[in-house]
Amino acid sequence: MPITFNEAAKSFKLTAKDTTYVMQVAPGGYLAHTYFGKALPDDDLTYLLRLTEPPFTPETNDRDRSSYMDCLPLEYPCFGVGDYREHVFSIVDENGATAADLRYNSHKIYDGKPVLEGLPATFANDPSEAQTLEVTLEDKVAGLEATLIYTAFTNLDVITRSLIVKNAGTANVQLTRVYSACVDFDNDEMDMITLNGSWARERHPDRCRLRRGKQSVDSLKGEPGHQYNPFTALCSHNADEDSGEAYGFNFVYSGNFVSEAETTQFGRTRFVMGINPVDFGWLLEPGESFTAPEVVMVYSDSGLGKMSRTFHDLYRNNLIRGEYRDKRRPILINNWEATYFDFSTEKLVQIAEQASKLGIEMLVMDDGWFGHRDSDNSSLGDWFVYEKKLEGGLKALVDKVNSFGMKFGIWFEPEMISPDSELYRAHPDWAIQIKGRPLTMSREQYVLDYSRKDVRDYIYGMMRKILDSANIEYIKWDMNRQITEPASNALPKERQREIWHRYVLGVYDLMNRLTTDYPYILLENCSGGGARYDPGMLYFSPQIWCSDDTDAIERLKIQHGTSLCYPCSSMGAHVSDCPNHTVGRQTPFATRGHVAMVGTFGYELDVTRIPQEDRDAIPAQIEEFRKYNPLVRTGDHYRIGNMFEDNTWDAWEFVAKDKSEALLEFVQVLRRPNMHSRRIRLKGLDPDAYYYDESAPDKKYSGAALMHAGVIIPEQWGDFRSVIMHFIRA
Ligand code: DGJ
Repeated sequence: MPITFNEAAKSFKLTAKDTTYVMQVAPGGYLAHTYFGKALPDDDLTYLLRLTEPPFTPETNDRDRSSYMDCLPLEYPCFGVGDYREHVFSIVDENGATAADLRYNSHKIYDGKPVLEGLPATFANDPSEAQTLEVTLEDKVAGLEATLIYTAFTNLDVITRSLIVKNAGTANVQLTRVYSACVDFDNDEMDMITLNGSWARERHPDRCRLRRGKQSVDSLKGEPGHQYNPFTALCSHNADEDSGEAYGFNFVYSGNFVSEAETTQFGRTRFVMGINPVDFGWLLEPGESFTAPEVVMVYSDSGLGKMSRTFHDLYRNNLIRGEYRDKRRPILINNWEATYFDFSTEKLVQIAEQASKLGIEMLVMDDGWFGHRDSDNSSLGDWFVYEKKLEGGLKALVDKVNSFGMKFGIWFEPEMISPDSELYRAHPDWAIQIKGRPLTMSREQYVLDYSRKDVRDYIYGMMRKILDSANIEYIKWDMNRQITEPASNALPKERQREIWHRYVLGVYDLMNRLTTDYPYILLENCSGGGARYDPGMLYFSPQIWCSDDTDAIERLKIQHGTSLCYPCSSMGAHVSDCPNHTVGRQTPFATRGHVAMVGTFGYELDVTRIPQEDRDAIPAQIEEFRKYNPLVRTGDHYRIGNMFEDNTWDAWEFVAKDKSEALLEFVQVLRRPNMHSRRIRLKGLDPDAYYYDESAPDKKYSGAALMHAGVIIPEQWGDFRSVIMHFIRA
């Protein structure tokens, strides 16, 4: 049984594969946290609470309840009742007071995993995959009930958390902070890893030792943003890829977030994650409920590598949905870096015709096909065809592309409105704005008020007309600016602070309608590159554009960081032209292919104009991608090199689940003069099996030799060279 209740100790034990999580009802009715880590047989760990150690004894020293509250490890600590560490819940009650006090009321345990209304979340494919515990806490004074929802996955080291707050009283309550998770670790000797960056440098891992006080990453942009990702790992100081303890936390949410660790005065660490409370508010009238998004918690006793592989398995099987979840994605060619805004039907047809001859399977028409859009300063919101550019219309173009045996995909930026658009001229109040205050422009566009159903309906109506007008089989959903002047013309004064969350719910609503009505369409998310690379988006789209930086060497870092919690099968990655448009670097065509092969794979170049030598290489490159993609999509991913520690090389590996084959990819970033060739140790193989390198089948290596002695990588002449080796069980 993954979840049990010990009546005597009033403790709950959650077992997720080899992980144990224990909490209990402590004196006073508080829900205390006792343990999260490697599997234990015990279900009563009361001794860890040290309830008899003065001065914090609740039974004998109630005159010091505040001391008890300030050191008791808690599952869901509230503001204003003696716990001065970071709290996860606060309100403003009908009298304007801010304290809340949630204590145990009841619980239930059941098979499977509930759906979170209006929100993306991981799921159990059948009820035997997971068990759920709901613990209801109540604040009798405020009339609130908070039901904490924990799900333990049977075959994965994963526990998820979320909650539903209900106003069970008779007066209005304003929620001012509703985080989704809190874990109090009995330890402050840990490192914190976050994924930080900027446009074209997304998700670079950043690791530091926890220091006294609070350390966090967050967003107030209306989406997670390029700068920080809603992911954090806490790990032992000695944790590396293969050993040490690691706890990974990922927020299944695509809006403002906070992820924070606080070391406390008593040598503990409190970790919290949830919707950013800055400018957040939610009015709960009697009978109403608020659902907080999910946090995924992963435990690994074998380093960061195992943590990542657990996330990958969970997301590939229990988050990503749709027809393409388990399928190879079509090899696409996107015209963005080929033409930018300067294209026509003729140009796209030329690209498609040439591409189809080389084995490319889909043409994606990027930004610039609608309204009168010749640059990024107009037409967002005018989702009708720019006839001057697409002479003959969309259907004629799509039919032509289809006649080459290729699919057709299209770009939308549905959340945006250009001041120079018919839509804005007709509905200026549809932009998110504060009445009377000038709107802040970004990329010469505003954000549509997706908290409004009428706005969403209108945009969706236009999108449907386009989608129904031709055989469109792929959508790139882009989002190129962030929110300012956060207010809605449609919300009453007392609900204005709800705009941020309502916006995200609106985006989810539209994505849900789109993926339900057009289940055969492959949806790829994108936000100015990878500003919205989060599990919430993965629930709707099996792939996300990683970054606008398509340089193979920069991608090594971006893809390494992304793989900390997101599966390679979700990483939008293309072979692009040289010199690279972001960094001006020249890299071999083969290396660009090998790096893009880690992700969804495709091309982003003008195939009619690249050097003949590169064009000639495409069919074989595609063959190679097709051959290895099943392994990349379904296998276990191991990081071997780390460009952040040594930027002269990188390597990674994919191993089949049954360990029958492994693909090793190596990039010699900088050639070293006068050195022996490099030796690389593989990971994850069967030590007792024998393997051979497909390109030199006569030599057999034991799995043990490949993992402990390693293989020799042939030294390459020049920089930025890649080598791949395919090992097959003999
Ligand atoms: C940002 C995306 O990341 C690019 O790939 C491209 O689609 C542009 N937007 C188009 O405006």
